[in-house]
Amino acid sequence: MAVLKICKYPDPILKQEAGPIVEITDDIHKLAEDMIDTMREAPGAGLAAPQVGQSLRIIVIEASTAEEVGQALVVINPEIIRSDGSLVYEEGCLSVIDYSAKVTRANQVLVRGLDIDGNPIEIEAEGRMAVVFQHEIDHLNGILFIDRISSLKREIYRRRLKKALKKEEQEARES
Ligand code: NI
Repeated sequence: MAVLKICKYPDPILKQEAGPIVEITDDIHKLAEDMIDTMREAPGAGLAAPQVGQSLRIIVIEASTAEEVGQALVVINPEIIRSDGSLVYEEGCLSVIDYSAKVTRANQVLVRGLDIDGNPIEIEAEGRMAVVFQHEIDHLNGILFIDRISSLKREIYRRRLKKALKKEEQEARES
């Protein structure tokens, strides 16, 4: 059990394409457990390994269907093999501080991958859960939700963040 440090934009690891997991070692089991702890502590709806500084294709998601309250899903090497429809959803991200924006995504996805024991799994997700899967899988491809909004909105956020970080730095220096 460990809560890991979450990498924040503009950390370059968030821009990298993560590598596939070829063997599910004890280290991967531990990473998955730590990612679940970190997601719950934050709290967040999902977390991808690059967000905790590991450029590997593994995501954890807090399942919220009626049968699965309090269950965390771990998916290794997840892939979206089908997507349908579209919806607009207000997204935020543990790696993007103080910002949320509406993003258009598929309303339904079919995700294929491996569970933590290496068994092939397929998960159908709809609505909010479909959004979470797409958001987390984007992380594995070096894409943040702010890459899916207008460049004008993104620029406004970038400037605001720059200012905030500068202020923080200044305050740290003065104290
Ligand atoms: Ni995120």
